Amino acid sequence: MKRLYGLIAILVVFLGFAFVQESRPDSATKKPVPTVGILQLLSHPALDAIHKGIIHGLAEEGYHVNKNVKIDFQNAQNDQSNLKTMSARFVDEKADAMIGIATPSAQALANASSNIPVVLGAITDPKGADLVHSNEHPGNNVTGVSDQAPLKSQLKLIQKIMPKMQTLGIIYTSSDDSATAQYHQFAALCKQEHVRLKAYTIASTNDLNQVAQQMVSQVDAIYVPTDNTVASAMQTLVSTANAKKVPVFPAVDTMVKAGGLATLSINQYKLGVETGKMTAAILKGKNPADTPIHFERQGEMTINLTQAKKLGITLPDSVIQEAQKHGEVFK
Ligand code: TRP
Repeated sequence: MKRLYGLIAILVVFLGFAFVQESRPDSATKKPVPTVGILQLLSHPALDAIHKGIIHGLAEEGYHVNKNVKIDFQNAQNDQSNLKTMSARFVDEKADAMIGIATPSAQALANASSNIPVVLGAITDPKGADLVHSNEHPGNNVTGVSDQAPLKSQLKLIQKIMPKMQTLGIIYTSSDDSATAQYHQFAALCKQEHVRLKAYTIASTNDLNQVAQQMVSQVDAIYVPTDNTVASAMQTLVSTANAKKVPVFPAVDTMVKAGGLATLSINQYKLGVETGKMTAAILKGKNPADTPIHFERQGEMTINLTQAKKLGITLPDSVIQEAQKHGEVFK
């Protein structure tokens, strides 16, 4: 009998303990939901795809929007003062991590805080943009994903589709760090491969039409780097180029969809997914200072058959097959 009382006493104590555990308010046992600020420079299909990919990547690593992560998404509409106020807003609300989509956004975030982790969402040249000490050892609160395009394979593809090409034009925005960095690399490559390259620069979308008009009468094909301004106004460039039957070879898949002819491209959505995953790792405690920049190496063949028809260009079978098997075909 004594033993039974003893057992009952133990049981009562145990249940009481369990009850106390159970009835504790949530805030004491669960961590508060982390906040991630996402700052996108402007809307164009590539950056929009990266944004979507980020949400997917966070979810893949267990962070679901409005469940266990709060996203504060801001679009700066390509305006420098917006970038500044929006970055300050994230710092004020004590964001746990901030993601910059496109170079100017990342720079604004890095300027706004030296301790909140900043994750780079598809930044071409993190070191060149002064965002990290080195790609291997970023060193501060900034790390992320680069969208550096496979320029050499892209040039080879242009030569394959345009074997009689005499002059290749390149158009980019002089104030766009990402595009300018690529222009320099691409120009060096063309020199090495004995391709005649003619460069055309714009200041904004306002002069795109005029510069494009001039360009299409002087070149046989056009290359476009990851330029945020041109990416937001592809229709203007493409309609001008189509009128003269000059093909446009852009650096990315989304710009092929918007009227480019072909490219070997890093999948923009996938860049976003990688950015989201890296952000998740940082929320779980990874230190940006010693997290290397992630480079996506694998290019995918992307072609636009409507454009090929419009331009009267026959794409090589090998290119079409590669796009059908491992890439994307826009019709
Ligand atoms: N790399 C660009 C930057 O650093 C952003 C970007 C990603 C982009 N994908 C793109 C720009 C496609 C134009 C087209 O600013």
